[in-house]
Amino acid sequence: MIEIRTVDQLHVDGSRVFYRVDYNVPLEGTTITDATRIEETLPTLRLLRERDAAVVLASHLGRPKGQRNEKFSLKPVRATLAELTGANVQWADDCIGPEAEQKAARLKSGELLLLENLRFHAGEEDNDPRFARALQKLADYYVNDAFGASHRAHASIEALPLLYDLEHRAGGLLLAKEIEFLQKITEVSDRPFVALLGGAKIAGKIEPLEALVKRADTLLIGGGMANTFLAARGVNTGASLVDKESIEVAKRIATSKIVLPVDVVIEDSSVVDVAKGLTEKQKALDIGPRTIEKFAEVLKKARTIFWNGPMGMFEHQEFAKGTMAMARAVAEADAITVVGGGESVEAVKESGYADRISHISTGGGASLEFIAGATLPGIQVLRAS
Ligand code: 3PG
Ligand code: MG
Repeated sequence: MIEIRTVDQLHVDGSRVFYRVDYNVPLEGTTITDATRIEETLPTLRLLRERDAAVVLASHLGRPKGQRNEKFSLKPVRATLAELTGANVQWADDCIGPEAEQKAARLKSGELLLLENLRFHAGEEDNDPRFARALQKLADYYVNDAFGASHRAHASIEALPLLYDLEHRAGGLLLAKEIEFLQKITEVSDRPFVALLGGAKIAGKIEPLEALVKRADTLLIGGGMANTFLAARGVNTGASLVDKESIEVAKRIATSKIVLPVDVVIEDSSVVDVAKGLTEKQKALDIGPRTIEKFAEVLKKARTIFWNGPMGMFEHQEFAKGTMAMARAVAEADAITVVGGGESVEAVKESGYADRISHISTGGGASLEFIAGATLPGIQVLRAS
């Protein structure tokens, strides 16, 4: 059992709190297309403000790689946050330095200050203690709800909380909720346990995949990830997205527990049998109807389900059928169900079945690693003992 110290155990009254959130939200230009990650921080924000704390909010957005880049500015989040909290949200154009320090120092009880993207500084991803010390100047307490980034040993996730003693650092209500639900899956006793996995790549997911192969009874694999496994089995995948560097890994973890698509939908919306293979120019963009049926059959019998990653290019209507059918099958299953990852969560919400999922995680890579049994640095530093 993982137990962390939580925000309600801190005496934050009248103090300034550094609140690490994961507002790495999907954007179309400057429009937020899904505000779930912001909404999910509202309970902690309410608690902090009720206790008269002043809150300094910090997040990353995208991967600007240590450079200032307007494309990855957190500015679009400011208005949504103000709307959802009813508060006046102040803004600092840099997450460290004199402006942020002055604005944080002047912040009154119940007020919010949103900082610009942490990843505009290389020190964030480098877990640099000097960068962490610059952030520490902004607040007396540290609270983390950035579950989606808790698998990253970055400065605001690991080095910074370590600068605060146990009485001054804690997890927020969202982090606590994520741990509670995901733990139910890792301690799974209700079988079959089925993992439904998709998304583009295998790279970066190898360790969790290997661990899941041991834990789950069946792994249903669709989306781009399936192409790589199919290629590893010698199927001609044509022009489909294949993670070439991971073919050897896919061969290594081949097991009868892994179930792959038997048919796929290609660019002109026609269906191709995987057994026949794809021609050079054909591209798999969704799972086909026989695969949907096969996967749905397995999900129906499951008692525990973890889903991460879409089954195809579901942002295009023509290739959304597989992902939407899986959303429905997961929702209708008589099982404990957890969905993680921005795109699968988006799909579940679009499908209208979100309220029938036991837990929608705000973390993609993080929930996958947690379920696979990894120790996440952001959680580790907040453990109660
Ligand atoms: C995510 O969206 O997966 C998290 O915010 C972490 O982002 P990262 O994968 O760029 O570290
Ligand atoms: Mg990610």
